[in-house]
Amino acid sequence: MHSDIRPQLRKHYQNEPLKLRQHVERVVALALELACVHSVDLVDVETAALGHDLFRSRSAEFYRQKAREYGLSRPDYEEFPLMYHGPLAAAYMRETFEYHHWPVLQAVAEHTNLSGQSALNPIAQILFLADKLEPGKGKPYQDELTALARQSLPVAVYQLCGLMADYMAGQGSFAVPHDLLEARQVLAAP
Ligand SMILES: [Fe+2]
Ligand SMILES: [Fe+2]
Repeated sequence: MHSDIRPQLRKHYQNEPLKLRQHVERVVALALELACVHSVDLVDVETAALGHDLFRSRSAEFYRQKAREYGLSRPDYEEFPLMYHGPLAAAYMRETFEYHHWPVLQAVAEHTNLSGQSALNPIAQILFLADKLEPGKGKPYQDELTALARQSLPVAVYQLCGLMADYMAGQGSFAVPHDLLEARQVLAAP
């Protein structure tokens, strides 16, 4: 049995920007709804949703330095240091709160950059979808994909990975499509 760290995670956001706090609350709400529909553990899903953006509003230098401290540096993220915010949040949950429930930590670490491994983790699927589809994002595909997510997590993740990989490739963020496309491949496999 792992400890309930939701109160500590909530406390962390007290000093974070209002916009981020509102985003996290909307992610929690949608993630819990999807968890109910698909019978995934509600505490695990809420913990992942609360933890995912602990370090979303930090400087590029903060990300690079903390990544070095935690031994998480990777060459393809050095140019896009914001990509570290998921892995750093997971490492912080582990080190600071002694929280070791792997499916939740994996969901947090890979919530931006879903990989072939996390693509099969229902908590990671829910967090990935809720983070991108929460109403505040105002994406054109929001309603359609949210409806799809209520029917099937893997099918919705598959679709969203494709959309995001295309978008990020257009931005020149080469690191991201690689993992997202791998996630897509795993979900498409028979
Ligand atoms: Fe994030
Ligand atoms: Fe987020």
